Amino acid sequence: MGIATGDSICSRVALPGERDDSTTPHEHDTIHQKQAGPSFKSDSAESYNHLQIAARATNDAVRDWDLGSNALAWPQGLENLLGYEQSFAKGQIGFWEERVHPGDRARIAASIHEIISSAAEHWSGEYRFRRADGCYLQLLERAWIVRNSDGKAVRFVGSLMDITARKQLQDQLTRSQKMEAFGQLAGGVAHDFNNFLTTILGYSDLVLAESGMKGTVASHLGEIRKAAGRASNLTGQLLAFSRRQALEPHVVEVNSLIVNLERSLLRLLGDNITVVCHLHREKEGAHIKVDSGQLTQIILNLTVNARDAMRGGGRLTLATTVTSLDEDRQSLPGLEDIAPGDYVVISVIDTGIGMNDEVKAHLFEPFFTTKDEGAGGLGLATSYGIVRQSGGQIRIESEVNRGTTVQIFLPKVPAPPPPAYKKPIGKNLPTGTETILVLEDDISVRHISVRILRNLGYQVIEAANGDDAQRQFTQRAGKTIDLLLSDMVMPEMSGRYFADWLRKASPHTKVVFVSGYLAESLHPGDRIEHGMFFLPKPFDPEQLATTIRQALDSPAPSR
Ligand SMILES: Nc1ncnc2c1ncn2[C@@H]1O[C@H](COP(=O)(O)OP(=O)(O)OP(=O)(O)O)[C@@H](O)[C@H]1O
Ligand SMILES: [Mg+2]
Repeated sequence: MGIATGDSICSRVALPGERDDSTTPHEHDTIHQKQAGPSFKSDSAESYNHLQIAARATNDAVRDWDLGSNALAWPQGLENLLGYEQSFAKGQIGFWEERVHPGDRARIAASIHEIISSAAEHWSGEYRFRRADGCYLQLLERAWIVRNSDGKAVRFVGSLMDITARKQLQDQLTRSQKMEAFGQLAGGVAHDFNNFLTTILGYSDLVLAESGMKGTVASHLGEIRKAAGRASNLTGQLLAFSRRQALEPHVVEVNSLIVNLERSLLRLLGDNITVVCHLHREKEGAHIKVDSGQLTQIILNLTVNARDAMRGGGRLTLATTVTSLDEDRQSLPGLEDIAPGDYVVISVIDTGIGMNDEVKAHLFEPFFTTKDEGAGGLGLATSYGIVRQSGGQIRIESEVNRGTTVQIFLPKVPAPPPPAYKKPIGKNLPTGTETILVLEDDISVRHISVRILRNLGYQVIEAANGDDAQRQFTQRAGKTIDLLLSDMVMPEMSGRYFADWLRKASPHTKVVFVSGYLAESLHPGDRIEHGMFFLPKPFDPEQLATTIRQALDSPAPSR
C-alpha cells in the first residue's frame, strides 16, 4: 500500500542512497510513510511539513517506476490530474506506455532509454498523455534517475505537470504571428503588382481600341490581357489571404447560398462520392454578411479538397447550423480569438484520408500543399483570410484515414431590408464631359487613367501629389471640379486628407477612391462617406468608366 495519499510524495524527496535497490516503489512508499521521521534525520519536523505543503501546492502527478521489476506506482495525482483510479493502474509501466500519445511514444521511449543508459541524474520531456476521459493532456515530465553504487539506474521518479493550456496558448501565438508575417509579405507584393497590372490591362485595351487592330497582333494583345487578368486573380488571392482584399459584403441567407451551389458542387465531385446536406431549420433563416462570391469560392475550395482526399470514393456532408459562442468557447480549440456571440456555422465534412500533425501545422500557409499538381496551396490560405476579414474563423478537425471536418464560423446578422434597385450595365462604356481631377502618385496608373477618361470625353486635370493638386485647384479660381479620382495611400498627403480639403472648398465634388487595399479605406475616420466611391485596383477601363459615371450621377452629398 502506501500510495495515493498526498503524504507519500515525500518518497520523492528522500530517495538517494537510503533505499535498498531491490525495494519496489510500493515498499519504498510504505517505508517512508512509516518512517518519515528517520528519513529526514537532519531535517526538522517543520521542514518535513514544508515538503508536504510544497507537494500539495502543485497539481502535478508523480510516477515512481522501478526499473528492475517495471513496477509503477503513482504516489500523487493519478486520480486528480489523470482521472484514473488506483486499482485501474495495475502497478506496471505498461499502463503509462499505453497512454502516451502514439505520435510521441517512440520519441519519448528513445529519449528515456538514452538517459537511463547514460550517467545522467535528470530527465525531462514533453508528451501527450491520455486521460481517463479520452482527452490528451500535454504533460511536462521532470524525472530523477536513481542509481545504485555501480551507477546503474534502478528507479525513475517523475513529476508530471499539466501544460496543456500553456502549450495551446503558445502554439496559438506562434501560429498567429506566423500568419501575420505571411500576410504582410503577401499583401505588400500583391499591392505593388496591382499597379503594374492596372497599367498592363489599361494599355492593352487602349491599343486595341485606338488602333482598331485585327488579326495576329490583336490576338497577341488579347493574350497579354488574358495573362494580366489571370495575374490579377492571383494578386486577388494573395490580398484575400492578407485580409486586404476589397470584399463586397452583403447580407445573405446561408441555406440559399448552399442550395444555389449544389449543382456546381455535384459537377465537381465524381460518381463515387455521395453528398449529404443537413441544413438548419431556423424559421427566420440564418443570415451572414459576406462577399457571397468569395464565400462560394471558399466552399468550392473546401469541396475540391474533400474530393482530393476521397480519391477512392466516400461521403461529403454539407451542414449549416446556428450556434451561440459564449465565454466558454475556449473549450473548442481554434476558436480562442473569436468574439462571443451568435454564429452561423458551415461545415464541410469528408470521409477521406485526413491529415497528420505536420499537415495540420501548416495547412493555412500560402503555397503549402501536399499535392504535386503544379502550383497550389492557396485554397485554405485565401479561405482563412476571407473568413477572418469577415469577422469569423475556420476550424479544422482531422484524423488520418478517418476524414476531415472543416467548420466556418461567421457572425450571424439580422435579416436584411429589401434589396435596392441596381442599374444594369450596358455594353458601351458610359461617357461624359464633366471635369475630373486625377490624383495618383504612380505615374503609369495616372497616365492610363487620364488617357481612358479623356477618351470617354471628360475634361481631365492631373496631379501627382496632394500639394500639386491643391495648387491646381487654387489656380482654377472657382471653376468647378465635378469629380476627384484619387489614390487612397500616397506619401505625404493621403488621398483622404486631400479629399476632405477639397470638399470643404467645393462641397459638390464627387470622390472616387482608388486603392489596392480595402482596409485603407476603412480605417477609423477613413470611412467612405456619402458621395464617395471606391474602386479597387487593378481595374480595367470598363470598371473605371462605370464607377466614374455612377459617382457623377449620384445625388449631391448633403453637408
Ligand atoms: N479535406 C482534406 N483532407 C485531407 N487533407 C486536406 C484537406 N484539405 C486540405 N488538406 C491538406 O491541406 C493542404 C493545403 O490545402 P489547400 O486547399 O490550401 O491547397 P491545395 O488543395 O493543396 O491547393 P489549391 O487549393 O491551391 O489548389 C492540401 O495540400 C492537403 O494536404
Ligand atoms: Mg485546395
